[in-house]
Amino acid sequence: MNEVLKAIHDRRSVRAFRSQPVEPEALEAILDAGRWAPSGRNTQPWRFVVVESEAKRAELGKLVPQRDMVRTAPVTIAVLLDRAAGYDELKDAQAIGACAQNILLAAHALGLGACWIGRARDREIEALLGAREVEELMMLLPLGYPAETPPGRERRPLSELVRRI
Ligand SMILES: Cc1cc2nc3c(=O)[nH]c(=O)nc-3n(C[C@H](O)[C@H](O)[C@H](O)COP(=O)(O)O)c2cc1C
Repeated sequence: MNEVLKAIHDRRSVRAFRSQPVEPEALEAILDAGRWAPSGRNTQPWRFVVVESEAKRAELGKLVPQRDMVRTAPVTIAVLLDRAAGYDELKDAQAIGACAQNILLAAHALGLGACWIGRARDREIEALLGAREVEELMMLLPLGYPAETPPGRERRPLSELVRRI
């Protein structure tokens, strides 16, 4: 199978991580994959805060429901939407989703695992991240070397999802 298609199929949400640090080059490549996502009018409204210090990871762990995931992940990438850079609420949100998926796929391609935490928008977390006034937290992406191999999750068959006209 084509390697991009294989990565799309094989990627799983990983929620348990080994303590092994993520190499700076790998992290850079993952952030770069996020940067290359498509966006409406190429506005690139994403901003990233990389949470990697032990102190910040512990603080963040206290503020999210999935505290163990965030506390044990050696890195959490917070993806923020810069409202000043964006131009359309719906399209900006779509662009941020594409960016997050690029990050998950890049992590997977490099042998890392990650999970998308969607319910992250919270004033206290934004303050901890040092978010600017125009920036809104969209998702948290804890990542690291997997300490689990999650089973493949079912997907509905295309026959249920597609209508041809
Ligand atoms: C918008 C969105 C929000 C999500 N929020 C969470 C979350 O808060 N916590 C969590 O453990 N997983 C979260 N996930 C991961 C999904 O549970 C997961 O992608 C789905 O169950 C399919 O599993 P897979 O990613 O292993 O294929 C989220 C995924 C998306 C796309």
